[in-house]
Amino acid sequence: MTDEYLNRRTFAIISHPDAGKTTLTEKLLLASSAIRLAGEVKAKGERRRAHSDWMSIEQKRGISVTTSAMTFEFEGNVFNLLDTPGHEDFSEDTYRTLTAVDSAIMVVDAAKGIEPQTRKLFEVCRLRDIPIITFINKVDREGRDPFDLIEEISDQLALDVTPKVWPIGTGGRFRGCYDMDHNRVLLPAEDSAIGFDRAVDVSSPADPRLDDLVGAEIMEEVRGEMELAAEGYSAFDLQAFREGTLTPVYFGSALRQFTIAELLRDVGKYAPPPGMQKARIAQGIEEKVPPNADYVSGFVFKVQANMDPNHRDRIAFVRMCSGKFQRKMKLKVTRTNKSLAVANPIFFLAQDRQLVEEAVAGDIVGIPNHGALGVGDTLTERDGLQFLGLPDFAPEIIRRVRLDDPMKSKQMKRAMIALAEEGASQVFTPTLGSDFYVGVVGSLQLDVIQERLKAEYDVAASLEVCGYDAVRWLSGATSDIDEFIGKNRNAVAHDRYGSPVFLARSQWEAGYTEEKNPKLKFLKTRERV
Ligand code: G4P
Repeated sequence: MTDEYLNRRTFAIISHPDAGKTTLTEKLLLASSAIRLAGEVKAKGERRRAHSDWMSIEQKRGISVTTSAMTFEFEGNVFNLLDTPGHEDFSEDTYRTLTAVDSAIMVVDAAKGIEPQTRKLFEVCRLRDIPIITFINKVDREGRDPFDLIEEISDQLALDVTPKVWPIGTGGRFRGCYDMDHNRVLLPAEDSAIGFDRAVDVSSPADPRLDDLVGAEIMEEVRGEMELAAEGYSAFDLQAFREGTLTPVYFGSALRQFTIAELLRDVGKYAPPPGMQKARIAQGIEEKVPPNADYVSGFVFKVQANMDPNHRDRIAFVRMCSGKFQRKMKLKVTRTNKSLAVANPIFFLAQDRQLVEEAVAGDIVGIPNHGALGVGDTLTERDGLQFLGLPDFAPEIIRRVRLDDPMKSKQMKRAMIALAEEGASQVFTPTLGSDFYVGVVGSLQLDVIQERLKAEYDVAASLEVCGYDAVRWLSGATSDIDEFIGKNRNAVAHDRYGSPVFLARSQWEAGYTEEKNPKLKFLKTRERV
């Protein structure tokens, strides 16, 4: 039994593109001393991009398509930060990454409020009751009224809100922030080389020293605001936060380094350590696995191909869920019932990778493999244990894969399956004909697939519009499914696990067919087993 997991904080940052996620990530790392110079996160990204010309799409579009993990320490806690790709056009990956975290920081642009992607990601968090800490960024710029922003969060996301750090002026009148819990004013850095805000203790917002520190005129306004803010909203309630119904709100500036340490401190203080994870232990029997169970367990939430096209190995990102993992341990992959000796597991540090000697619940471990691990797999010492809740999403875009060189069909099949195993796309083999279909959630993935087929597998293929617009997994008695397949051979395909799917020409047709076949279920999501 171990209680080491209690200081793990495994979280993600969710936001709309441009709200400041990259800047905040960098500043959190700086505050924790995981990196020393501002600009390293981006610089590192660029260096990495320069090396990985297999993914020239990243360069072309200037975006990071891949998800990564970062581990750092601060004030006795170990933080595991999982990156959710910031582009609007995200994939299933993004959703699944959120199944591996225990909390999230939601970054909101003070000028824009809740934007569409923030909302979408928030909804995913809500499905799992993930506690959310809100960071309202860019208060150094002209933004919306703080109360307006708070009301919007409360109304649109149906959350209780507790202001924790309040802005002292915004835009041209920005003077600093006020930590309402600790009665500290956060002032511009004295030492510009360090650049972080400097906290000065006061007795309360009424403390007359504040007039000298930030100016009497602005304090006159902000004092009243802070009183209203303290009285007008719910008091912070740890349980409500951890249940996902209340969010503490921090105003700050990632760029100017205001409210970074406060945010990190409170992620450490309030965000939950790893909790119980839902699993199936035998056919039809579910159980919750506690983080201090005496057996090691974890699940794969992402698989990433090696950046180097000469090496076909991949890295599976495993979220540990219980026990104490030790290097060289043999763990069983429940899906295949095969043992895997985990010889070279890695931790992802901000600037480095490190061999993992030990890991506990909450930790993110990278396991290099040649295809033994797929997204959704459970790795464990306990026979038959399978974590639940890692869904496949019905793709919204379906394309027929057309090979430019028909001689390469075998190679293509292998490549498509390998890409699908990474979890960002799905492959379907129709009952009739020799084509393949590929399905994705966001259209960016189509470009990624095409690019990678060429760069990594030397297969040129086009992805053609094929008339199908929706996919549904078929569920029901085998005889009913067989009967349906018999009647709809043209429109039935199988996913790479051999499960039958119905290919519909429209969402409407999917619904209509479902109505006409009441014995079957037409599923939009499916849990992998
Ligand atoms: P993202 O990862 O969420 O997409 O956002 P990112 O951090 O890249 O930030 C988007 C832009 O917003 C960047 O400007 C960044 O400098 C700016 N920004 C982030 N935080 C703050 C803040 O607290 N205050 C102000 N004023 N700006 C902020 P850019 O010009 O697009 O990029 P760059 O050239 O500065 O890198």
